[in-house]
Amino acid sequence: MKVCVFSTQKYDEQAFKQWSDPAIDWVFLSQKLDLVSAHGATGADAVCVFVNDQLDAPVLQRLKELGVRFIALRCAGFNNVDIPTATQLGLSVVRVPAYSPQAVAEHSVGLMLCLDRKFHKAYNRTRDNNFDLNGLLGFNLHGKTVGIIGTGRIGVAAVKILLGFGCRVLCVDPIKNPQMINMGASYVSLDELYPQADIISLYCPLTPDSRHLINAQSLEKMKDGVMLINTSRGALVDTKAVIKALKSAKIGYLGLDVYEQEADLFFKDLSDQIIADEVFQRLLTFPNVLITGHQAFFTAEAMAQISRITSDNLLQLQRGEPCPNVVG
Ligand code: NAI
Repeated sequence: MKVCVFSTQKYDEQAFKQWSDPAIDWVFLSQKLDLVSAHGATGADAVCVFVNDQLDAPVLQRLKELGVRFIALRCAGFNNVDIPTATQLGLSVVRVPAYSPQAVAEHSVGLMLCLDRKFHKAYNRTRDNNFDLNGLLGFNLHGKTVGIIGTGRIGVAAVKILLGFGCRVLCVDPIKNPQMINMGASYVSLDELYPQADIISLYCPLTPDSRHLINAQSLEKMKDGVMLINTSRGALVDTKAVIKALKSAKIGYLGLDVYEQEADLFFKDLSDQIIADEVFQRLLTFPNVLITGHQAFFTAEAMAQISRITSDNLLQLQRGEPCPNVVG
């Protein structure tokens, strides 16, 4: 089976070579999948794509014409794939629903701790022989109220960590997980969560309903100086509204691993280029904003799981066996 891997990074190639099934012939392309680059999949049975590859109707149509039968997402989210069109075209779509929820949960809590205790500033100060503590005052996580939006795999992993810190955890999810309640977290409505939470962290998928869930109106309902963490998908947050809230100090801390327009930025070294995205550039000017470039998933354990599950998914499709990770 020939599989064309789009948006390949060096670490993807290493992981697939080390952990996937040798029955698969991987062809690695660095380009992002779009209508222009789709021709790279000529002769392939499948394409393997990541979060910022574009799989809208014209691209799917093109892949179908090229003879592609399977689409393997090497990630959990599938908001970048037009699933109804894929189904209509008979293209099977598979994903990796869970490779390491702990990887993302731990990263999100890492962002909380770093913003709170200002590790990023301390790191630079001590390297400059500056041991002054002024400006580094943090707060205890113990006793703080954390609002969790989305209590699926990653949300649950984050709640376990936060309960360990002694936080009070309020959750919002249309599906209530009894495990959360047994552990001591409670389910509330968004309107109850916003005014109570010192920290709000997003663990829900991006859907038409959740797009810009965090907007001017929801920000208005939050505590002054709230910490907002987003490791899920950029478009859950209206970035312009967030910038206004940072300027008015409504948001006291912002930790992002994802960004609405990240497709033009993340996973590339742009250090010698001028970034044209003024919204992103503005975000970077705030001292209380910490951004990582969609790296929450990026642990050795997660990469091994992604490679193994992606190759298992594809081989199951090829053999016509039922695959539990089919989307749509
Ligand atoms: P999951 O499917 O296990 O859980 C998602 C939960 O969100 C479900 O319980 C669902 O009922 C809930 N939900 C759906 N819409 C909601 C809404 N409007 N409000 C509140 N809850 C809602 O997903 P998992 O594995 O926990 O992943 C969550 C998200 O994390 C993914 O959709 C993906 O976007 C993101 N992610 C980010 C990564 C990164 O590297 N930054 C890596 C992997 C996932």
